[in-house]
Amino acid sequence: MSTKLTHEQLLALLSDMSIEEKAGQLAQIPISACMEGVTEPTGPMAEMNLTPEQIALSGSVIAVRKIEAEDCAKVVRDITALQPHHIPPLVMKDVIHGHQTMFPIPLAIGSTFDEGVAEDMGRCGALEGAVSGTHVTFAPMVDVVRDPRWGRVMESPGESPLLCGRMGAAMVRGTRGDDIAAPDRLAACAKHFVGYGISQAGQDYAPIDVSRTELYNTYLPPFQACIDAGVDMMMPAFVGIDRVPCVCNEWLLKDILRDRMGFEGMVISDWDDPRQLINHGVAKDLREVSKLCLEAGLDMDMMSFAHLNCLADLVREGKVDEKKLDEACLHVLALKNSLGLFDNPVKNDSNAYQQEICGSESIRKAAWEAAVKSCVLLKNDGALPLRTGCKVALVGSHADEHAILGGWTLDADTESTKTLLDSFGEDERITLVSPEEADVILLATGENQSDTGEDCSKAHPSLTSEQMAELHSLNALGKPVVLLLFCGRPLIITDALPLCSAVLNVWFPGTEGANAIRALVMGDRNPSGHLSMTMPRALGQVPIHHDRLSSARPWVEGAVYVNRYKDESNFPLFPFGFGLSYTTFAMEASAEGNVVTVKVVNTGSVAGETVVQLYGRMRHGRLIRPDKRLLDWQRVSLASGESCQVRFTVTPDMLRMYDAQGKAVEPEGVCDIAVGQSSAAAYTLTVDM
Ligand code: NOJ
Repeated sequence: MSTKLTHEQLLALLSDMSIEEKAGQLAQIPISACMEGVTEPTGPMAEMNLTPEQIALSGSVIAVRKIEAEDCAKVVRDITALQPHHIPPLVMKDVIHGHQTMFPIPLAIGSTFDEGVAEDMGRCGALEGAVSGTHVTFAPMVDVVRDPRWGRVMESPGESPLLCGRMGAAMVRGTRGDDIAAPDRLAACAKHFVGYGISQAGQDYAPIDVSRTELYNTYLPPFQACIDAGVDMMMPAFVGIDRVPCVCNEWLLKDILRDRMGFEGMVISDWDDPRQLINHGVAKDLREVSKLCLEAGLDMDMMSFAHLNCLADLVREGKVDEKKLDEACLHVLALKNSLGLFDNPVKNDSNAYQQEICGSESIRKAAWEAAVKSCVLLKNDGALPLRTGCKVALVGSHADEHAILGGWTLDADTESTKTLLDSFGEDERITLVSPEEADVILLATGENQSDTGEDCSKAHPSLTSEQMAELHSLNALGKPVVLLLFCGRPLIITDALPLCSAVLNVWFPGTEGANAIRALVMGDRNPSGHLSMTMPRALGQVPIHHDRLSSARPWVEGAVYVNRYKDESNFPLFPFGFGLSYTTFAMEASAEGNVVTVKVVNTGSVAGETVVQLYGRMRHGRLIRPDKRLLDWQRVSLASGESCQVRFTVTPDMLRMYDAQGKAVEPEGVCDIAVGQSSAAAYTLTVDM
């Protein structure tokens, strides 16, 4: 294990550094700036007017493309050699759902409701990332997401603050382990702090408007869960709170993040976000950008070079207090120290070792397991699983598609990713034929991988007219059509549903996706994913989620002047938490004191897994609250005929609310409890709080 500096040694280092050096530590530049020798900036770097001296002083490099261990090690060693105190740079990258071996997209990981899977994804991504030269990943993203128009919903574990928090914390644990200096670990960064998912009309980079009460109750808790799990870094969101951009919002970055939430790590901006203060008209130039951001509590500037170009002058001129610069610089040095970089700046410098580790069998197995657990069976009239000996047509835009990995796949080898046709073609239990000859048709279709992620907002999150036409013509053949639905967001499939005998929502399932889907379709494994986001019936219902605040005029069948649409039901097509299986489960719940006991029986003929979900609401309270909110869950695995008992303890933590001042409002009185396999479960029990 690496030797670390003591706090006193870090302070001594800091006091020996020049103002330029300290300002340099707060800058992140692209790794490409350093690939052809740090003394000669080329390409875009030359256009950015960075001098060789500035590059040598930079505290961090960001890699937004595939990079090999040896090249990465060279960059780190070159900069370290030139930096006056030989301080190594941090190498950062977006390792979002795996590095080379891709796991399903995070929204799909949310659908596993399995923290072990989220932890495995963090662990495997960290291992592959670390041997490829990375120190820090910009993950997990724990934005609570409720609008399928927003392309970035794919990066989040889902719509529930609890699900986002627990899965996010598991990713943090998996990524960083107990010691980020270990050769197989990365430092983790929670993002986007905070409220990015509320972007108006689901449009990326659109403004948001959120009350403080909603921040405290809905959007901050997943970040708190990541902090409690030891997250190392925090990234302010591209949006503003109270009309102040997060990147220079002192209330958010100091009062909330540091003082209230207890975060002690480093704060890094999003890409070029500080400079965007000029676009907002919040700052008039880069000097003002640098001052505003530093004083508000931003440590590192990703890619806008405001600190690199202006901060030293601002300090020398007395416009910015050097103490603020020291504070920020210390956060950067402390992260480097935790990573053990002062002892060993490079975790691996061998491409051969990188290749040996990346894509190894145990990592692929974990990715396969994650994909199996993340697919959600939405409908099945008996078409699935397929019978041995049946003739199968496998058609649609995604039947022979390699790009089934989802967004953020910088280091993955898409071309060598197995397609569904590759995988099903290896299965001797079935024969692949044309739709006309088939007993059953598998239609693999949906969104393109490039339609998901940043800058991928959609006004029509549904199947295209061509895809619907294909479905109609296959349906006209009079055979069962099974829809294998690829998507990075909940798609609106209300029209498609009646044309299908079965629908398996496979998200973007990752490197082992094709094999995992085959295992589910053939019945080798039983589907067990549950929706991490509500699937709307119509776009006009958006945003629609299970924990919407209650209405004073709740919907009642047939009533008027109640909370309703004239032309559409209030109910989603599929509620949050929904997911079918090839078996059935019966649940019987009872409450004693604050303990809810659920007897779960597998009443079908095959083994299966399900997610037992606990929902609740306080019957009385001063603040308006959700009619129903996920309070806890447990995944269970049962053989046919087997039963088990699940116990939930209902605690004040689950039901506590916060007012606009952030003051806790303790739950008191009767709490209604619902237990079931989706958020549609009815209230049948009460617990006294
Ligand atoms: C912009 C994205 O918003 C953020 O999530 C990402 O980590 C950075 N770019 C770095 O690539």
